[in-house]
Amino acid sequence: MDQIKIGKFIAEMRKQQGLTQREFSELIGISDKTVSKWECGNGMPDVSLMQLLCDALKINLNELFSGEKLTDADYKKNAEKNIMELAKEKEEIKKNIVGGKVIGHALNIDLNVNTAHNTNTEFWNTIGSEFLGSTALPSYGGYITEDKLNLLGNLANKKVLEIGCGNGRSLKYVFDKGATDLWGIDISPNQVKRTKNFLALQGISAELKCAPMEDDCGIPTNYFDLVYSVYGIGWTTDLNKTFRQIYSYLKKDGVFIFNWSHPIHKCVSLENNKLIFSNSYFDEKWYSATMGDKKIMLSNRKLSTYINALADNGFMIEKLVEDNDEDLVNEEETEFSRKAKMLPVAFVIKARKM
Ligand SMILES: C[S@@+](CC[C@H](N)C(=O)[O-])C[C@H]1O[C@@H](n2cnc3c(N)ncnc32)[C@H](O)[C@@H]1O
Repeated sequence: MDQIKIGKFIAEMRKQQGLTQREFSELIGISDKTVSKWECGNGMPDVSLMQLLCDALKINLNELFSGEKLTDADYKKNAEKNIMELAKEKEEIKKNIVGGKVIGHALNIDLNVNTAHNTNTEFWNTIGSEFLGSTALPSYGGYITEDKLNLLGNLANKKVLEIGCGNGRSLKYVFDKGATDLWGIDISPNQVKRTKNFLALQGISAELKCAPMEDDCGIPTNYFDLVYSVYGIGWTTDLNKTFRQIYSYLKKDGVFIFNWSHPIHKCVSLENNKLIFSNSYFDEKWYSATMGDKKIMLSNRKLSTYINALADNGFMIEKLVEDNDEDLVNEEETEFSRKAKMLPVAFVIKARKM
């Protein structure tokens, strides 16, 4: 299925019916954000909505799957092709959830570290933030906020390192809290440039490294009071190697804080207000998924995988946060917030170098 083509077709047919995104969304009982997501090619309508959507747009299902109006002659040919594609996708489908986003289909792959690094670098160099958004402190993503938890403690005159520094917003946050020696590492040259430019505009200087977090890239050892990462660690191709590196950067008693999407969140999708278990919690296979015209490569990891890797590398775990902040959840009425009322969507771990 060509999601981009289908998205453009939905937009075109909606306009032909003289409907705004809001009017169309009200007609089929979903949010206008969801309509906008489909129209950008970022996700497909749920099966339960498809007939309603086709009726509203005065098209048939075959035309929806084809992403174009069909003549009678094309109808049969396309119907057969679409049925074959649907059958194939059903075999390969794993509802793939990164952060708050459902990003379509995931294909299991064998991990090749270079390919994963190149693929993910290309994604973050280009459309990464546009598709996945950016999450910076005080938010840990999901519905968890540093403002309420105060995990970072007193940062006055602290030496801090961010893993996967993205666009630099979190480094600005720790600077504002008093940290004086700022470091960041990110695999994407463009993200490093974004961090550099953003911090320069604020008159903040930081030491930035463009390298994979798994590798030794000359970051000083036994040096940092705090190493942290907001939606960064899950991108590693080697959790043990990464935690070993991070352990080496920290001073004794130094703190490591990171968050990631909660692994249970990826297994369960919300359909018609019911949570449906669609992926195995135990599945840690690597997969590739397409967003827009780019790919990402990731794997899901169980919570115990993170915790055991920390313990194996000498960390003591001080806190595991998986509760959603009720005030934040109640601020919005989205599929994501409805899901967050029933299960954790992100987690944060605070660990210490012993
Ligand atoms: C979700 S973003 C988090 C960034 C930051 N919290 C923000 O809001 O901008 C993930 C970051 O990890 C980086 N990344 C992905 N794989 C990496 C790797 N193997 N080593 C270092 N950085 C990596 C990406 O380039 C991206 O900037």
